[in-house]
Amino acid sequence: MSEGRIPRQFIDDLLVRVDIVDLIDAHLPLKKTGANFVARCPFHTEKTPSFSVNRDKQFYHCFGCGASGNAITFLMEFNRLDFVEAIEDLAAFVGVDVPRESFSAQTSPQKKDDLNNLYQLMEQAAQFYTEQLHAKAGAAAQDYLRRRGVGEQVLRDYRLGYAPDAWQSLSGRFNQQALLDAGLSVKNEAGHVYDRFRGRVMFPIRDKRGRIVGFGGRVLDDSLPKYLNSPETSLFHKGREVYGLYELLKKNSKPAQIVLVEGYMDVVALAEYGIDNAVAALGTAASQAHAELLFRFSAELVFCFDGDRAGREAAWRAMDAVFPCLRDGRQVRIMLLPQDEDPDSLVRKEGVERFRARMREAQVLSDYFFAEAGRDLQLTSLEGRAQLVGKTRPYLEKLPAGIFREMMFARLKTLSDISHLDVLQNEATLNRNVRPANPHAKGRMTSARMAIALLVQNPKLAMRPELQEIDWSTLVFPGVELFRHIVEAILAQKPANTAVLLESYRDSSEEKSVKALAFLDLLIAPDNIESVFCDALASLIKQSAENELERLLSKKMLTPDEKESLRKLLAFKK
Ligand code: UTP
Ligand code: MN
Repeated sequence: MSEGRIPRQFIDDLLVRVDIVDLIDAHLPLKKTGANFVARCPFHTEKTPSFSVNRDKQFYHCFGCGASGNAITFLMEFNRLDFVEAIEDLAAFVGVDVPRESFSAQTSPQKKDDLNNLYQLMEQAAQFYTEQLHAKAGAAAQDYLRRRGVGEQVLRDYRLGYAPDAWQSLSGRFNQQALLDAGLSVKNEAGHVYDRFRGRVMFPIRDKRGRIVGFGGRVLDDSLPKYLNSPETSLFHKGREVYGLYELLKKNSKPAQIVLVEGYMDVVALAEYGIDNAVAALGTAASQAHAELLFRFSAELVFCFDGDRAGREAAWRAMDAVFPCLRDGRQVRIMLLPQDEDPDSLVRKEGVERFRARMREAQVLSDYFFAEAGRDLQLTSLEGRAQLVGKTRPYLEKLPAGIFREMMFARLKTLSDISHLDVLQNEATLNRNVRPANPHAKGRMTSARMAIALLVQNPKLAMRPELQEIDWSTLVFPGVELFRHIVEAILAQKPANTAVLLESYRDSSEEKSVKALAFLDLLIAPDNIESVFCDALASLIKQSAENELERLLSKKMLTPDEKESLRKLLAFKK
């Protein structure tokens, strides 16, 4: 089940309806200078304003740190929201409701109201469970928690509860269908509906906003399964939530470090000892979604694993998940625990100071990565070093471009003692390195760049008849694919402004290039835009035809396709 997609059209309309200047001004006061509005950049520290917002393009850009985007991006970055949350907040800012596309008849009647009802039900269930913990039925559970060293304050902060050992404690109180939708009840084959959680200590799982989206429940003895978790519901998506994040952010909205542990009880035990910055993955392996989520709140993550072989393997798998997120400025540490200990047992055994020291001293990812990769290899031999390269390269290639990536490759180069390791850097890196780095640098403005940039900044230009008449098969120049892609995107979507066009490139491989083009300062008076564009286009077509003609004429053998282009080009020449 899912809440349903937000219709694309709604997002585009939202971007037309909102004025990014008003939106940003509501978060940080802007000053008008010329055509732009400026402020000190909220995304890096600076003394003089280099953060600039443009009303026509509905786009912001910081010349200092390169942050840029439309209204949605701004809310995501500024308020650390995910995409859907940003849309919701933007809709609220504009004063409209977010519609949802439904996938099937089954979910179609489920509207916003139903979701609100589910949240309410989860809240009521949590209240019921906490009441039960303090009632007679919960005596054994209270006793259990006391024995495990959980104090009153932590019980309250984490809203721990107890699900009575009975089949119908919830079903008697709440709507049966709602209980099933919320994953709190189960229907057996005979059609009987009964409580999912029975005789368990209950851990409510809250989303970042504090809404209860699911539960985990632990038995009081050694019976199995030890933990039961809520199933996936329209509220709860295991891979996307972590346990304890809301509680953590409530105490500290900007933690210097977040520790990712394995168990509910680990989070609770660490909190008992005043270590408030731990969260737990919900019985799933640490994923990229987890890392991205946590990096929104802290630049340093500590991944905590058992020290045994399984733990080391889990740590290695986590690298795979986390490497793509390692932009410069983000840091991951790996903390391996002694055999047969988890954070809960360890903090009780060695005390909080020692445990904090472990967190501080946890190995930085780069050290851990190379140590682990080289573990069983003979690095004194050529073969061993070649194996090291083979083993690490696929990981390093996942790193985003940046200094950290360069340093990791440099380190591999040193370790493997291969002097021409540059060849290791794949094509993707090369492409990244040759892109027009700083849109601000007054580089050579080719006709191609001028034409594409004008198009991005003035999407209406795609309607020009000159463009409709282009024979793409004769057009050959660097960037022609992007150019064509943009033209087609505009013709298909008819974006009202640059911000809407950019939205359709979110998370695509072209996003960066299109953003850079959007902010290129072309210094053209509005009245001249059309004519400059047509000139650029004409010269592009001419230049491209000449180059292609030259290339074909110098070839000995031509394919049938090439012959056809040659024929067209020669005709065009006349
Ligand atoms: P652990 O068995 O390490 O849990 O499983 P724990 O938190 O240390 O539990 P205690 O100390 O014995 O009470 C780690 C996590 O794996 C998931 C839970 O999220 C648990 O916190 N798990 C474990 C399950 O979902 N089901 C299980 O049966 C066991
Ligand atoms: Mn444990």
